Order: sequence, then C-alpha cells, then structure tokens
Amino acid sequence: MGQHLLSIDDLTIEEIEKIFNRAKYYEQYHPFIRPQFQNRFVANLFLEPSTRTRFSFEIAEKRLGAEVLQFQQSVSSITKGESLLDTLRTLESQGVEAAVIRISEEGLLRKLSEKVSLKIINAGEGRIEHPTQALLDLYTIRKYFHTVKGLRIAIIGDISHSRVAHSNAALLKRLGAQLIFSGPDSLMDDSLEGTILPVDEAIQNADVVIMLRIQFERQKMNYISSKENYRAEFGFTRERLKYLQPHSIILHPAPVNRGLEMDDEVVDHPQSKIFEQIHNGVWVRMAVIERALEGNLRWESLSNKEMCGIEIGGFREIS
Ligand code: CP
Repeated sequence: MGQHLLSIDDLTIEEIEKIFNRAKYYEQYHPFIRPQFQNRFVANLFLEPSTRTRFSFEIAEKRLGAEVLQFQQSVSSITKGESLLDTLRTLESQGVEAAVIRISEEGLLRKLSEKVSLKIINAGEGRIEHPTQALLDLYTIRKYFHTVKGLRIAIIGDISHSRVAHSNAALLKRLGAQLIFSGPDSLMDDSLEGTILPVDEAIQNADVVIMLRIQFERQKMNYISSKENYRAEFGFTRERLKYLQPHSIILHPAPVNRGLEMDDEVVDHPQSKIFEQIHNGVWVRMAVIERALEGNLRWESLSNKEMCGIEIGGFREIS
C-alpha cells in the first residue's frame, strides 16, 4: 500500500535507506527501466511558484511511466471557492492515486491526509517542511562523505523563513551532524539547536556549507538594511572562498539570488554541488513516487538484485 510523505520526521532511517537504494538504482538504470506505472495517475498541485521541484517530480513521474496531471490554480475551481480538500476528493474520485502538493499554509497537508485516500507528497510547506529537498541534500552529501555522524554542516542565511533549513536540520541532527547556523540575528530560529558563528568562521569550520536564499516573499517586514550590506556581512562572496576547506562542499536548494547570498564565483566553483543536487533530486523523487504508489512492502518483496541493481549493490548504510 502506498504511503504519504508529509514530513522528514515521518521517515525512519531504514525507510530513508530504502529510498536511497531505490534512487541509486534509478540513477544507474533509468535508461533501461520499464514504465511500471502506465495507467496510474499522479497530480502535481503547486500552489506556490516552483521550477526545480515541479519539473523534478514531473520528470520522475514520467520516467516511471505514470500519467501526470498538472493542476493550474488560476484556472481551477479553487478560484470559485472550492476547498483543497474537495479538490483532492475530486481528483481521487477520478482515479488519481497520488498528489504532489506545494503550499504556503502550514499544517494543512497532514489534516488533508487524514481525510483522503490518495497519497500526499509534500513538495514544500510554508516555512516548515521540504522533505524531498532534505532527502536529495542528504543523498548528495553521502556521495562525498562516508558518514554524517560528526560532520560539520553550516546552514547560512535566512533560516527562520526556510523550510529547507527546518527539514535539513531535523534530518541531519537525527543522523548526528554538528550543526552550525549563521546569518542575521533577525533571521535566526531559536528552536533549532546548533552553534551560532559569524559567516567567516561558519565557512571555515564546515565540511558542508548550505547557503539559503533570502525569502523576501515570506518576510512580513524589512529584515535587512540593504542588499549590499547583506551580501557584505552574510553572503558567500568571492572573498570568502579563502575560508572554504579543500574537502568541503557547497550546497544551495536554489533558486539562488546571485550577487546577494552567493557570488557567481561561488555558485560556479568546483566545490559547489548545486546542479548536482538538482540532478540527484530526480532519482530520489522517483523512489518517493514509487513509495507513494506502492509502498515499502513492494520493496521488501524485491530481491537485493531487483531493488538495487546487479552491479552496484545497496547504498551504504546511513550513519
Ligand atoms: N529548491 C526548490 O524547492 O526549488 P523550487 O522552488 O524551484 O522548486
């Protein structure tokens, strides 16, 4: 039976290992896989703007052979007052089995999941959750580092408005990473546990630097004095590249405000893995879609060879 993905906290480490095994399989074998979900319908409802996540899910769904419905809010009956619950009930009455939803309202997806039979995948929820971003970030980190336990991971920027920061911090802390936070006091979040450092020291002390976009669209007041001051004080500028350790990697969920939180030279630096994150997202989301339509039980019935591929074996155990 398929499963929702509402929060990164809902996944056990064993489930994440299964998702990563499957993602690794899809990464290796995607040119050869058969379209296993023909005549199965998935709807993508992006009620907030998106480029990466929307196309990443659509590509993942199409690679699996699913029939993909793109919901357009502006021409939907939501504009006539229909609720999202009735929208989802309508879709499931028509045979849609999974809905990928991005939404600004926090907490609604879990309530909806209790009232519908189609499976909900959280594609970004207000400031609080972006579980598939946390998964693809971890999948990327695991390609460069043997273990997350003890890894020093700096999250820098507009932390309080960032669902990426919240989902990543929850997952990486669970795995034993040492979290460092940096940014303006006005954009910190006291509920997150970690060491707070100035940007120079955060970069110098990190194995992984996760930069965040300033989310002007969520800010109800002016949190920064000027873009120039923000770049100088909190941005990963070309001048700050001298603090980056040779083994460290730079991540950013994107879209990037080039010249604000990151200079061009940092975005395009060899140690920046931003476009690799985007690439990895497709494989991780293929596994998440498969889990939504079929569930873990199907994976348990597969042999290791079927689950992970012949040559590659399983993904390393997550620690
Ligand atoms: N990282 C991310 O969620 O990007 P989009 O807003 O473009 O989907």
